[in-house]
Amino acid sequence: MAAKWTPDSWRSQKGIQMPFYRDADALASVEAQLGQFPPLVFAGEARNLKTELAKVANGEAFLLQGGDCAESFAEFHPNNIRDTFRVLLQMAVVLTFASKLPVVKVGRMAGQFAKPRSADTEVIGGVELPSYRGDNVNDIAFTPESREPDPARMVRAYNQSAATLNLLRAFSTGGYASLDRVHGWMLDFMGRSPWAAKFEQMADQIGQALDFMRACGLSAETVPQLGGTSFYTSHEALLLPFEQAMTRQDSLTGDWYDTSAHMLWIGDRTRFEGSAHVEYLRGIGNPIGLKCGPTLEPDALLRLLDVLNPQREAGRITLITRYGHDKIEAGLPKLVRAVLREGHPVIWSCDPMHGNVIKAANGYKTRPFERILAEVRGFFAVHRAEGSFGGGIHAEMTGQNVTECTGGAIAITDEGLADRYHTHCDPRLNAAQSLELAFLLAEMLNEELKERRAAA
Ligand code: PEP
Ligand code: CO
Repeated sequence: MAAKWTPDSWRSQKGIQMPFYRDADALASVEAQLGQFPPLVFAGEARNLKTELAKVANGEAFLLQGGDCAESFAEFHPNNIRDTFRVLLQMAVVLTFASKLPVVKVGRMAGQFAKPRSADTEVIGGVELPSYRGDNVNDIAFTPESREPDPARMVRAYNQSAATLNLLRAFSTGGYASLDRVHGWMLDFMGRSPWAAKFEQMADQIGQALDFMRACGLSAETVPQLGGTSFYTSHEALLLPFEQAMTRQDSLTGDWYDTSAHMLWIGDRTRFEGSAHVEYLRGIGNPIGLKCGPTLEPDALLRLLDVLNPQREAGRITLITRYGHDKIEAGLPKLVRAVLREGHPVIWSCDPMHGNVIKAANGYKTRPFERILAEVRGFFAVHRAEGSFGGGIHAEMTGQNVTECTGGAIAITDEGLADRYHTHCDPRLNAAQSLELAFLLAEMLNEELKERRAAA
């Protein structure tokens, strides 16, 4: 029997990767303030997402999750939100068109601020300072004052999340996401990519299908799904004082929900047994992601699944595997076999980003596009071989024309990285690379589906 869960029961467990706030009174005052703020999402919405994710777990839908590695105060701008949203829409349309599966869209947006770091401190030119931990904790500037954790940043992050979510809701249902506008989603700077032309072709075909349907009396006026879309938010539930303050009891069911996002995930560094993060997340009703890296053993995973999903609810757990292109085919099968053997309903999603970071010769942290693709290929190969459904992708991407990951059809070279390298943390796919990934992913997903359908 598990001990009783309360929104603060994580405080008696081992909490790592969280800041120490010198001013305990300031922290307590911010926590109390956040506790009075309106929820960002409702329990019912989190349940809707869980229902949609249950379809993914059953092989009847695909999960697309993406956005910044770290949102920042500096990059807060409506155009940035719009551009990331529309690239996610484009990716979803490519995947739906090719696979004929519904795509569940979840942004790493409207709350993805806190970052786990591999070292507590950073040394530059002989000076050692605390590491940057995300804009809701401290500032990226390399000075002692900037790096001091400041609880007031949580309030600013809350406000930015609320404004971002408000715009995302407007884009999703206010007409921008209408399929009639599929041509209009093309970004100018993607023109040079061969995948942009391919997208235009596909948009023409969708336009013809819509014209045909309109002639039959089916249009956005009569079929709301054509005129808008559902879009959900997610982030790593790392900064637990913030997440606890956003935890509310649902008046309908009496269950607890983290109302800071629809879906929350546990990072690869904080998913150990006895972790404060596992303790917090086991008690909330939202769908939960669990990052699975090369050090996760099958038995430990099964114990985590028993703790996080004792009722074995489909849609509750998404396993986000992030091995690295050269480790996935050796490492993933043992997890898949253990989960299949025990009959846990999970979604298998591929994060081809976090195991594929390298340092370019000029010092930039980057991810070669071909390694990202190789991991996705390895992911589908494993699931085909094991008879499980590879049902999702988790990407760090942006709608901006940045130069952070090398490769892609408009090839970014090591030297080119310096041009527009803006990320506050890990390197992201730019808009053209994201679209290219979607097309290549659609091909792989179709191969997987063909085999499944043939075997059925
Ligand atoms: C992330 O998703 O940004 C992250 C830190 O991932 P992981 O926990 O898998 O390293
Ligand atoms: Co990252």
